[in-house]
Amino acid sequence: MKTIFSGIKPSGDLTLGNYIGAISNFVQLQNENKCLFCVVDLHAITVPQEKLELRKRTKDIAALYLACGIDPNKATIFIQSEVSAHNQLAWILECNTYVGELNRMTQYKDKVLKEGTSALTSGIYTYPVLMAADILLYDSSLVPVGEDQLQHVEIARDIAVRFNNKYGETFVIPEHYVPKIGARIMDLQNPTIKMSKSSSAKGCILLLDDPKIIRKKIMSAITDSESSIKYDIKNKPGISNLLSIFSIISNISIKDLESQFVNSNYGEFKKALADELVDFITSIQKRFVEIRNSQQLDDILDQGAITANNIGSRKIKKVYKKVGLLRK
Ligand code: TYM
Repeated sequence: MKTIFSGIKPSGDLTLGNYIGAISNFVQLQNENKCLFCVVDLHAITVPQEKLELRKRTKDIAALYLACGIDPNKATIFIQSEVSAHNQLAWILECNTYVGELNRMTQYKDKVLKEGTSALTSGIYTYPVLMAADILLYDSSLVPVGEDQLQHVEIARDIAVRFNNKYGETFVIPEHYVPKIGARIMDLQNPTIKMSKSSSAKGCILLLDDPKIIRKKIMSAITDSESSIKYDIKNKPGISNLLSIFSIISNISIKDLESQFVNSNYGEFKKALADELVDFITSIQKRFVEIRNSQQLDDILDQGAITANNIGSRKIKKVYKKVGLLRK
């Protein structure tokens, strides 16, 4: 049994990309592993947040974890800021991470290119170290993420190896778990960029979108000038992206979907996908409404915080001792 940790930032509404790249794998992995799934609110405040919105979104994500099928009897679900060991470990790791390593992080470099540095917080710069702390605190050996987070898991490994060499065996070296299909769901209007909260509104499906809007977004997705429904990322990125989405939510392989739609045109294919996706997301939304304002959600998060605090405080004590902190 492996220990698995992953998290999602409450910095915007959850997207279909978050579901396919991350949550759908959390649901699979919870059956045979010891899993901790976190809402990483400390990561969200690396950029400005409106406080009531942040509090709302944090609970929305926890409720969506449950609505998407994460079972609190199998996995620990909790909020990052309720476990202070994340911050405590992040500081120790920051003191063991080089500025040069952080300078190489592509997400940070892209942000600097787009926005310059004057409005960037130091939190956004040290963000990968807090993420390393999240992972290493629980001795996680597997980290399910979408492709955009690979470099962050890689630096967590580097930090862990360096720490172990310097202070003696302390952390498990984590590996990433990236799905074969859906590691990078693309924007429906521009299939060369990742679907994200900050990509085009029409190109990004939100898990809490109105079903009519979901249908509209799928029907107006950009495809190509051919008419064959074939998976070919290089030449047919739009259709390939729609096939990946279809495959994950229907559990039908891409090969089988290609055969099923061999005689269909793009309109028919999109309509079938829209029907499937609307059904799928509507059932998540129904469960979300039941859970979101229930006492059960708070109880699950309280219990999750207790479990995570127990593990985290034991680990931080060990780490402090290794470094030479604590009198006894
Ligand atoms: P975040 O909140 O941006 O995204 C959460 C997860 O969703 C995946 N994802 C996607 N996968 C496929 N296609 C897409 N279009 C797409 N968009 C998002 C992301 O890869 C991610 O797995 N730094 C992390 C959160 C974090 C974390 C951690 C993750 C903090 N600590 C520890 C794992 C372990 C982030 O910002 O993810």
